[in-house]
Amino acid sequence: MILCSNPKAQYRAHKPEIDKEISKVLESGQYILGEQVQSFEREFAQYLGVNFAIGVGSGTEALHIALKAAGLGKGDEVITVSHTAIATVAAIEVAGANPVLVDIESDFYTINPNKLKKAISKKTRAIIPVHLYGQPADLAPIASFARQHRIHLIEDCAQAHGAMYKGKRIGSWGNLACFSFYPTKNLGAFGDGGAIVTSSKKLANTCRMLREYGWSETKVSSIPGWSSRLDELQAAVLRVKLRYLDKDNESRMKLAAMYDTLLAETDLILPKKKARATHVYHQYVVRSERRDALRDFLMKKGIQTLIHYPIPVHLQPAYRGKVKTGGKLKETEHAANKVLSLPIYPELTQTQLRLVVKTIRAFFDQ
Ligand SMILES: Cc1ncc(COP(=O)(O)O)c(C=O)c1O
Repeated sequence: MILCSNPKAQYRAHKPEIDKEISKVLESGQYILGEQVQSFEREFAQYLGVNFAIGVGSGTEALHIALKAAGLGKGDEVITVSHTAIATVAAIEVAGANPVLVDIESDFYTINPNKLKKAISKKTRAIIPVHLYGQPADLAPIASFARQHRIHLIEDCAQAHGAMYKGKRIGSWGNLACFSFYPTKNLGAFGDGGAIVTSSKKLANTCRMLREYGWSETKVSSIPGWSSRLDELQAAVLRVKLRYLDKDNESRMKLAAMYDTLLAETDLILPKKKARATHVYHQYVVRSERRDALRDFLMKKGIQTLIHYPIPVHLQPAYRGKVKTGGKLKETEHAANKVLSLPIYPELTQTQLRLVVKTIRAFFDQ
């Protein structure tokens, strides 16, 4: 079976180092918010070119905490997309704010900056662009829109660790940015994990308090908070994997370039790259008019594919008719019916990739 993503292959690739670090943590007796988390926070912030990183329990929690740290709550509106993981919208709702969903750019699957004007209202307090599939949203017009309207720019970086926009890492554009370390991500833990990054000392302090009962010092709650912490084992794993992130992203880019060449003659619509950004291919997403039949065919031949995402958030049973949209979501609904994510991860071999391509060709030649 060729998997779409394969976190076990990542473990195997770095097993001796990871095993050593895990056993050091187990022997240390310190399992929550200790030296490993502190070191990871420092190293990750340095890697991104920001001042602070705050490790938390998941990517969803990173967004929730970031929104609360920015002071958002009841009645506030947050502009984002419907073509994303449910988590982006779920975090806005959990924070007590209201999502306003706008359409994507059909070529890139990220938020369409031209749709922002229609979505803004007196209640808008933040915008969350999602760097989907590993490709940065078009941050220059989005950041200028956020500045002009004095609203927070909170990046959802869950799928694009290490990607750049105009030569600067994503995560360093917003006043807050959020990462997930779910195992299949470009930087993945062996369990749940997430981080908020920022260059503002004040926001960093608030995030740090919110993740642990609002404590300003042990057992003194200065603000109401809750508990969402990154653990020492995950931080130790992440520290090892962070050292290989750029190399792993290069492997993903090389595999994507191979797909680009070998699939060029097929009926598939291939992913397009933005000129001023790097795409780190968390997913390699193609479009096909015969998507479902192709997916079944590949599955029968032992090739796993996934759909990111089959039902846009505004059409999910939990949200249908209950969330505000900024205009029609035509491109979002079109993408949901046509997109297909092919296998891609740093350890995928060229032989496996050629087999995926050969099987796709066989489908179209039938
Ligand atoms: C775009 C996006 N945002 C947020 C999240 C939430 O991350 P987590 O699963 O760690 O809560 C994910 C991960 O699934 C994601 O892909």
